[in-house]
Amino acid sequence: MADNYLEKRYEEVFGKGGGNHSGRPSLDTLLLKNRSYRGFDASYSVHPRQLDSILAVNTRIGSGMNAQRLRFRAVCEPQEAAVVLSCIKLAGAHPEWGLPLPGTEPGAFIVVCGTTAENPVLDIDLGMSLQSMGLKAVEIGLGGVIVRNFDKAALRDGLALPLEPLAVFAVGRPAEKIKLVTIHEGESHEYYRRDGIHYVPKLALEDIKL
Ligand SMILES: Cc1cc2nc3c(=O)[nH]c(=O)nc-3n(C[C@H](O)[C@H](O)[C@H](O)COP(=O)(O)O)c2cc1C
Repeated sequence: MADNYLEKRYEEVFGKGGGNHSGRPSLDTLLLKNRSYRGFDASYSVHPRQLDSILAVNTRIGSGMNAQRLRFRAVCEPQEAAVVLSCIKLAGAHPEWGLPLPGTEPGAFIVVCGTTAENPVLDIDLGMSLQSMGLKAVEIGLGGVIVRNFDKAALRDGLALPLEPLAVFAVGRPAEKIKLVTIHEGESHEYYRRDGIHYVPKLALEDIKL
């Protein structure tokens, strides 16, 4: 990457003509596509190299005090993946949906562990890691979901993890249609499904400004 990357990008975006002409997806596009996918194309197997490229974002992101206390286990071998799948809960707000639907289960995961007990700084590091991995997944045409609702003890045992698991990032080729809907202060934040589309309400810009 050239050292003047930021200057060149500025010119591409704000220079003559404006707009993003680089052929690369803009951050807004990546953010928009970086939804929580809970149904995946079972005919597609995530390759260990793809998982590694997602995991590698963690060698470039910030960390409180630069302590880098997160560790990662990539899982895509079917037997191990079945263990992770048995430990996680998707869409806990809607158990009646029975997600993931049979035949749309995720087959690849990145389990995030901490080298220390959870604390607020580690939690911020964790959020940055998970969001960065989500964006990387989308950049390479995949998608995932962050999972914090899981059986920690069973996962730690099942994968013989030497450290406490903090979160799971499930990843695959998404097989769901998801749309954002703008809402305003006081309206329901609850995600819902209608005619095969998963809708996610998000507060409008004017409602998040103080
Ligand atoms: C910290 C965190 C924990 C989450 N845990 C779960 C989970 O255990 N199971 C699940 O299905 N989704 C989980 N999610 C996904 C959220 O439900 C999702 O982000 C929210 O519904 C908004 O949808 P969006 O990600 O498409 O914007 C989690 C998200 C975050 C950021």
